[in-house]
Amino acid sequence: MKVGVIGLGYVGLPLAVAFAEAAADVIGVDVDEGAVESLARGESTIEDIPSDRLAPLLGERLEVTADPAGLEDAEAIVICVPTPLAHQREPDLSYVDAAGFTVSQILRPGQLVVLESTTYPGTTRDRLAPILEESGLKAGTDFHLAFSPERIDPGRTDFTVKTTPKVVGGLTEACCERATELYGLICDHVVTVSTPEVAEFTKLHENIFRSVNIALVNELAVLANRMGIDVWEVIDAAASKPFGFMRFDPGPGMGGHCLPIDPFYLAFKAREYDLPTEFIELAGRVNQAQPHFAVDRAVRALNDVGKPAKGSRILLLGVSYKAGISDMREAPALKIARMLIELGADVSYHDPHVPEVPELGLGSVPFDGAFEGADLAIIVTAHQEIDVGAVVAQAPRVLDLRGVTRGIDADHVVRL
Ligand SMILES: NC(=O)c1ccc[n+]([C@@H]2O[C@H](COP(=O)([O-])OP(=O)(O)OC[C@H]3O[C@@H](n4cnc5c(N)ncnc54)[C@H](O)[C@@H]3O)[C@@H](O)[C@H]2O)c1
Repeated sequence: MKVGVIGLGYVGLPLAVAFAEAAADVIGVDVDEGAVESLARGESTIEDIPSDRLAPLLGERLEVTADPAGLEDAEAIVICVPTPLAHQREPDLSYVDAAGFTVSQILRPGQLVVLESTTYPGTTRDRLAPILEESGLKAGTDFHLAFSPERIDPGRTDFTVKTTPKVVGGLTEACCERATELYGLICDHVVTVSTPEVAEFTKLHENIFRSVNIALVNELAVLANRMGIDVWEVIDAAASKPFGFMRFDPGPGMGGHCLPIDPFYLAFKAREYDLPTEFIELAGRVNQAQPHFAVDRAVRALNDVGKPAKGSRILLLGVSYKAGISDMREAPALKIARMLIELGADVSYHDPHVPEVPELGLGSVPFDGAFEGADLAIIVTAHQEIDVGAVVAQAPRVLDLRGVTRGIDADHVVRL
């Protein structure tokens, strides 16, 4: 079987590798020629796929190219391009449109096209199908079309492409069967649903569920702080309930390509149906306020020792949006750093995964020596490589936004 994958980022590259490892012939296409060049040299562009897993597949089962012509003889083509928000927070489907146009140029009867990019219900049927049909072929009749949301969680190792159930919704029953067969090559369990719209909505439901629950615990963290109650102790105790409770931890705010963005795809669509989606908007507002709360806590931590933010030296520990990865998209550390710099603080950072942050004009300082002259260290992202005990031992004052200093009793440590 030959499979084409369009878009070789956090979603597309692991998928292309999984298909190649399952003995499919894979052609991976990306418009980013720099990324294509490094991938073709066997140098992976994402941490979840180490280069020594990628390199042996090249020239054997996996071809990486910027030229989509080779998609023509693929039996299945999977689209994994970005779906960001435009300036007014409305969906930006231009990448999906462009990928659809690319496919329409080479589409032939009998091929299966699957969209994996997260988007609002109706995109596959009402937006992508007409673009593909510019080929002169009819969706559901001449070619198969389905939506299958990606559930990859970068940095996670306990669930993989193989062991995470895959939801599939086809335009017709035959479309669904073809897509189920495709994902059966790489996934232990495929969950079929009746339409692409159900599959599209399912992904948004999953992400909104997380966003709302994170907002809830973030709001409770702010309240607990005002009440002088340790929110982490509350959460640990609540999590002892074996049913009817799912643990979410507070933090400096939400980042990444999914949670700060995807829910607004549904909020946008809901307006067409005259329904303001209040949970989505409220969760967005609460989570967006969280970096401000973090800065407020930092200012208070300095104030407690008689120092203003202005002129203080503040070291951020971990700046990527979550632990174990280098992804800086929507990372709350960016907002926190900008606000502290605006207050006149002298900000530096250490992150073993992020050598530099061009947006801030900063590079990661080595851990050894990072605390010299620092007034405050803020644990923003708790990478495993950052030795929390050493942070507490060396920093004159610590603000822990991730609760990783629980169990360490020290007067100079404050927690979210
Ligand atoms: N990153 C995640 O954790 C995650 C998880 C689940 C779902 N998703 C969804 O998957 C989709 C892709 O996300 P991602 O994180 O992989 O994005 P990404 O930015 O890491 O990768 C997308 C790739 O697509 C390429 N591309 C853009 N337009 C193209 C075109 N017309 N033809 C060929 N290549 C093109 C880009 O150059 C880029 O390499 C998004 O809809 C996202 O919401 C992401």
